[in-house]
Amino acid sequence: MIYILGIESTCDETAAAIINEKKEIISHVLISQSLEHSEFGGVVPEIASRRHLENISPLMNLLFKDAKDPETGEALSIHDMSGVACAVKPGLIGGLLVGANFAKAICDCLEKPFIPVDHLDAHLLMPFMFFDEIQFPNLALLISGGHCQSFIIKDLQNFEKIGGTIDDSVGEAFDKTAQMLSLAYPGGPNIEKLARSGDRFRFKFPKPLIGGKFNSENNENLLNFSFSGLKTAVRILIQNLKNELGSEIDQQTKADICASFQQTISEILIIKIENCLKRFPEINEIVISGGVASNLFLRSEFSKAFPEKKFYYPPVKFCTDNGVMIAFAGLIQFLSSIKKFH
Ligand code: KG4
Ligand code: ZN
Repeated sequence: MIYILGIESTCDETAAAIINEKKEIISHVLISQSLEHSEFGGVVPEIASRRHLENISPLMNLLFKDAKDPETGEALSIHDMSGVACAVKPGLIGGLLVGANFAKAICDCLEKPFIPVDHLDAHLLMPFMFFDEIQFPNLALLISGGHCQSFIIKDLQNFEKIGGTIDDSVGEAFDKTAQMLSLAYPGGPNIEKLARSGDRFRFKFPKPLIGGKFNSENNENLLNFSFSGLKTAVRILIQNLKNELGSEIDQQTKADICASFQQTISEILIIKIENCLKRFPEINEIVISGGVASNLFLRSEFSKAFPEKKFYYPPVKFCTDNGVMIAFAGLIQFLSSIKKFH
């Protein structure tokens, strides 16, 4: 049986997982630093690097503590691993160095293959671990804290990038909006929660890069995203409301801002998906991954907007950074290198 160990340390999660060639999750563990970064409203690279360094060895002990072969029930050790996959880019350099050096040391000592994984590929591939039935080619949207990109996925190793953000990522817009409303980092889940009690049509925000000219077939930004103007609009609204009130804004208004902001994000993403589908009309299936894909409001708006298309998402807990996605991307590379060899 092939077993792959995956290590993730690109941002503020130290995570690891073991999966086997049947895509079974043998064990997975994660230490999140988000509480610690919360008071700064975002990830502090220096703190993140030090925490990864402290966390990685205890995390690995925890990972193997109850790791067993699902069929025989026999305990698994590091010696049973067929290879060690580690996210090596993109990310904060301190965290990358901790994860990659740890993984390489294991590989050098135990003569195992080191499998370098692109963190973005790992996010994109995550839905394919859970759904064998996804058809190719499909449209993939990666909406995370660091990235907002679209791809045509031709097969599990062949992605064509068709769009990306020209400024902020969508997760960053969630996090900055949350910060302006004094909600804790990471902002996405807190905005989603507060939005449930808000009026999503109370405030109108701009939708950058989707006006008439940006929607025309020959505009180079047809498939690109932009969120910085939306972020600025939220900031100006909050400032104006504070000036009018002469005090902090009330809880209901905060909820209405969250709901209206989330509504605007959904409208922007729906128009962008629509533009992709116009350009690639043969596509019937859409795969969405990255931290923002855990947002259930967005999921339901997408399904309502495209009832004839099929959407796939990773389970919510595997949308944000985790070790399983790195192990799965590593498994795909490992299996294809065996094929190439024989
Ligand atoms: O994929 P991820 O863990 O890290 C990156 O690779 O960037 O994504 C983290 C991002 C954060 O910006 C966080 O606010 C956002 O995902 N996020 C959400 C939700 N859960 C996490 N955004 C909107 N709604 C959510 N429920
Ligand atoms: Zn990520």
